[in-house]
Amino acid sequence: MAPKEAYAELIKQTKEISTLGACQAVLEWDHQVNMPPGGAAMRAEQTSLLAGMIHEKFIDPKIGDLLSAVEDSDLVADTDSIEAANVREIRHSYDKETKLPKALVEEFNKTTALAHNEWAVARRENDFKKFEPWLVKIIDLAQRMAEAYGYEGEPYNALMDNYEPGATVAEVADVFEKVRIELVDLLGKINSSSVKPDVSIVERPYDVEKQKLFGEMIAMAMGYDFNEGRLDIATHPFTTDFGPGDTRITTRYNPKRLNDALFGTVHEAGHALYEMGIDKKTHFGTPVGESASLGIHESQSRMWENMVGRSQPFWRYFFPVAQRIFRDSLNGIAFDDFYAAINTVAPSYIRVEADEVTYNLHIMLRFEMERAMMQGDIKPADVPAAWNEKFKKYFGLNVENDANGCMQDVHWSAGLFGYFPTYALGNIYAAQFFAQAQKDLPDLDAQLEAGNMLALREWLRENIHRHGQRFRAKKLCERVTGAPLSHKPMMDYMNKKFGAIYKF
Ligand code: CO
Repeated sequence: MAPKEAYAELIKQTKEISTLGACQAVLEWDHQVNMPPGGAAMRAEQTSLLAGMIHEKFIDPKIGDLLSAVEDSDLVADTDSIEAANVREIRHSYDKETKLPKALVEEFNKTTALAHNEWAVARRENDFKKFEPWLVKIIDLAQRMAEAYGYEGEPYNALMDNYEPGATVAEVADVFEKVRIELVDLLGKINSSSVKPDVSIVERPYDVEKQKLFGEMIAMAMGYDFNEGRLDIATHPFTTDFGPGDTRITTRYNPKRLNDALFGTVHEAGHALYEMGIDKKTHFGTPVGESASLGIHESQSRMWENMVGRSQPFWRYFFPVAQRIFRDSLNGIAFDDFYAAINTVAPSYIRVEADEVTYNLHIMLRFEMERAMMQGDIKPADVPAAWNEKFKKYFGLNVENDANGCMQDVHWSAGLFGYFPTYALGNIYAAQFFAQAQKDLPDLDAQLEAGNMLALREWLRENIHRHGQRFRAKKLCERVTGAPLSHKPMMDYMNKKFGAIYKF
């Protein structure tokens, strides 16, 4: 087949696969937002049937033949072209999917399905010994998968590549180590500061209907388009995307705390703007119609959540609005006290409740643990002791029980080794992108103070969103900021922001 025809057929196939994937996403959204409990068993059958169909279509040797017919042709000679990017990424996924033996995939799916329940019970009963045999099995499976994929250096490279294509453990470890050293130092200064923000300002009754109104107002001001989206309630908030014209967000409301839904909605709307900024009308179903990586995705949500949503300029505009909406809770509260309350830093055991500063330390601890587990340097039985030792070193806290320590996250029971680093990479990318946006948009602060967030949205769309997966994260970062990923922009941002709040 001529390269041009082969490419057209390849794209036709991937669009069909992605359309099946979009059907799966609709079912998953319904599962988390609307489905009555009684629907669970049938829903599992529906989604596993679809997953099987998608997998079969994707590993069809025909895809491999089509790829071979296009690769090395003139069509992909310009490695920065859309065609080259699509072929590169389809090849990458095809190779990964076809390298795993079917029996290994089945064993992995079966084991992790069972392990999830065992983990939930073990965590509830604070009994690591119960979870340990499952961790043994899952680590073994993950190691076998890494071997099947193949890797350079260490097995963790093969696993992290599933979420952050092209990133290497050595590079990530280098940036993380620099961040960790400076963060521990920053945290020490914050802990010894005499400034103690009054968090009770945001921890008092906040009417849920008004929270919803306020969240929608902010999402709209960010440029989230409710003609192409909607906001619903979910226990574990997420963003989902069904292709052009339908990108949905979810949040959860706490009637006694403002932060959960407020910053959760801003976070998810940040993810959604990324999806909405990709030209899906043209590129849906191809890699260029998808996000660059989980790290880049998280950079968008975290930038909106923290660098915009927890900034002074943003609240110069929205605090008076909030005071009018939540009159009972915010009447008479000073701006600086509110700003400090939403930016409180306090080391705590649970990652998902962590503040902006300590969050990254939670991730670095997990990254180090996972690498060592994959290398066999930390045996499953030694996980709690290793965890607690690192936790003491980074946070200065003694872990009293494993439920709040090494058993708190769902990821290991689900076999998601290599996923955690993308959260911290997101924060580091976010700061580097935001520093560049501030350079390119000198009046950005003034715009935010006027409640105008569309200039930033346009900048992100132009520089990041519209490219989809055309460039890998590393290259995207260099194109946008002129430099490789560095710990400096984030640490500059944090030292300046928290130095001002905690007065050091
Ligand atoms: Co996120």
